[in-house]
Amino acid sequence: MSNTCFDPLDLSADHDGLANPFRRRLLAAGALGLSTASLPLSSLAASVGRAQGSLFDLPPLAASTADAVRVAPGLKVDLLYAWGDAISDGPNARPDASDSAADQARQAGMHHDGMHFFPFIEHGKPSSSHGLLCINHEYTDDGLLHTDGQQTWNAEKVSKSKAAHGVSVIEVRLEQGRWQVVRPSRWARRITADTPCRLAGPARAHPAMLTQQDRRGEFVLGTFNNCAMGVTPWGTYLTCEENFNGYFKGPRQPSPDQRRYGLTEQGFGFRWHEFDERFDTNRHPNEPNRFGWVVEIDPWRPDQPPVKRTALGRFKHEGATVTQAKDGRIVVYMGDDERFEYVYKFVSKARYQPGKSDTAQLLDDGTLYVARFEEDGSGQWLPLRHGERFAKGALNSEAGFHNQGDVVIRCRQAADIAGATPMDRPEWIAVHPVSGEVYVTLTNNSERGKTDRVGPDAANPRAHNIHGHIVRWREADGDATALRFNWDIFALAGDPAQTQGSTIRGDAFSCPDGLWFDPSGQLWIQTDVSSGVLNQGDFKTFGNNQMLVADVKTGQTRRVLTGPLGCELTGITATPDGRSLFVNIQHPGETPSERTDPSLPTARSGWPANQFPHATGGRPRSATIIITRQDGHPVAG
Ligand code: FEO
Ligand code: CA
Ligand code: CA
Repeated sequence: MSNTCFDPLDLSADHDGLANPFRRRLLAAGALGLSTASLPLSSLAASVGRAQGSLFDLPPLAASTADAVRVAPGLKVDLLYAWGDAISDGPNARPDASDSAADQARQAGMHHDGMHFFPFIEHGKPSSSHGLLCINHEYTDDGLLHTDGQQTWNAEKVSKSKAAHGVSVIEVRLEQGRWQVVRPSRWARRITADTPCRLAGPARAHPAMLTQQDRRGEFVLGTFNNCAMGVTPWGTYLTCEENFNGYFKGPRQPSPDQRRYGLTEQGFGFRWHEFDERFDTNRHPNEPNRFGWVVEIDPWRPDQPPVKRTALGRFKHEGATVTQAKDGRIVVYMGDDERFEYVYKFVSKARYQPGKSDTAQLLDDGTLYVARFEEDGSGQWLPLRHGERFAKGALNSEAGFHNQGDVVIRCRQAADIAGATPMDRPEWIAVHPVSGEVYVTLTNNSERGKTDRVGPDAANPRAHNIHGHIVRWREADGDATALRFNWDIFALAGDPAQTQGSTIRGDAFSCPDGLWFDPSGQLWIQTDVSSGVLNQGDFKTFGNNQMLVADVKTGQTRRVLTGPLGCELTGITATPDGRSLFVNIQHPGETPSERTDPSLPTARSGWPANQFPHATGGRPRSATIIITRQDGHPVAG
C-alpha cells in the first residue's frame, strides 16, 4: 500500500472548503444552525415540544409486534435506501446475496446507524429538497451477507464483509413529492474498512501506532463499527468507531491494556483475521490502537481521505455531538458505550469563525475531559492532560503516560486515574438548541450492583438496570467549556405499571439509545432493546423497538413510530424545514446470535420488501426511511 495519497498539505489546503461553492454558501447561510447555548430553559417559548401541528396532538400509536414500520396516524412513511441499493451507477443487490465484494463496495452497507443530512444551497438558502446524506453502516450479519453465510469462508467474503461496513455518502433529492437517491452522482461515495484514512492529533506518528504497512503512523486502512455521529459547523461529518475490539483476534493472554479495551482471543466471530493478517494481533499488535477513534469526513470532497481525530480519545465511541461555546470554541460531547464506562467532552483550543478559521487542525488541539457526577447533583470535568495529577495518581511516566499520545490511546486508563464516574452504557448525546442543556442516554446495565461490580450511585441509581435512563446536565453559566455542571435525571425508563421507579409519563420505553433534538427543542428518543430479549418477559410490554418524542418541559413522552420485528431504531436527521425526517431501521429480523441462518434468511423478518413493493427482497435489509406529515406541517421542528 502506497501512502502517496496521504499528503497533509493536500487536505489542509482546502479543508475549510472555502474554494467549494457549496461550502462557502453553506457557511454564509448558517445552514447548520448550531446552538450558542446560553438561554435558560424557562425562557423557551411555549412552542418547544408544542410546535404548530405538534406530534402530541396526533392520535396515539400502539406498541406493535408487526413486521412493519408503523407510524402515528397523520404521518407517512416511505423507503429510501436499503442495504444493497446502488449508491450511484453501480449494480443493485441480488436477492440471494450473491453480489461480489466489488459490488458491495458500490452499494449501501449493512446495519444503518447514525446519519446526517447536509443540504445543498439553492437560491441562496439551504435546500430542503436536495442534499447529501451521510449514513453509518455499523456491522454485518454474515448469515445474510453471503449466500451460504459462514459455511464456507474465504478472502472474497472477508473483503465483502469489510465493504459492507463504514459509511455511505449519497445524493438525495425530492422529486414530484418523493425522495430519490440521485444516480449517478459525483458526490456518491462508500467509505469501508479498507478505505485509506489519515491520522491526526496526538497519536499520529506515536510508536504505538506504527505497523508494517504504516511505519510512520500516519495512515490507517479503514473505519468500521461506525455507530453514532456528529456534525461540525464547517459542514463535515464525524463518524464514530465503537466496538472495534471484536474484529481482532487477540493473544491467548491479553495484556491488562488489551483487556481494558476488550480484546479477546475469539473476538466477535467476524473472522477477518483468517484472510487479512492485520486483524491478527499476534502478528500486528499495534493495529487495534488504530481504531476506536472519531473520524472526520468531508462529504463535499469525495477525493479527500477521512481523518481520524485522535485528540478526541480512543474508546468505544458512540457519538460525537458538537456544539459551539459562547466564546467560539468547539465542544464535542462523547459517550463510551460499555457498562461502567464514561462520558467525555473535548474543548478545542482555537475558536471557530465561519469562513475565517482554518479547520484542518481545529479538532487536533484542545483539552479532553471526562465527567464525574457527584452525589449532590453537581459535577466536574476532569482534564485528561499529560502530567495532570489526581487523588488516585498522575498521568505521568510512572503510570505509563509519557506524552499526550499515550493519554489518548489509553484513554480509558487515564480516565480511571482521573476518578471519572462509571455509567450505565453512555450512548447518544443531544444538546438542546436553545438552553444548551445536554442529555445522554444510558441504555442499560444489568451488571450494576452485582457482586464484585460497582453498585448504584446518584447518577446511576438502579441496580440491575435493565431498562436504562436519561441523564441531563447544565454547564456552569451556560458555558459549554465550563469545568463544572449540575445534573439531574430526566427519565428512568421502564413501564411504570410494571417497573418500580420508572418515571415515564406517557408512552413507556426501555433501553433508550438514539437521541436528537430537532430545532424546536423536541427530544427524539430511539430504543434498542436487544434481540435476545425483545418482546419477552420484562420487555414484552414495549413491543418492537420504537421511536418517541419527549417534551422536555413536561417530561411527557409520545410514541410516533414502531419498527419491524427484530430491528432497533437508530439514526435520525431532518431537512432544514423539518418536513422530511430521515430515520434508520437497523438489523430487522436479527436473531439473538446476531447471525442469521443463511438457509432461512427471512425466517424472522421480510422487511422492507413485505411493506414496500419497490424494495429488493430475499433478505431483511437495514434501511433509511422518510417520515412526513400528511397535513404538510413540519414533522421535526
Ligand atoms: Fe452502536 Fe452503542 O450502539
Ligand atoms: Ca447505539
Ligand atoms: Ca445499539
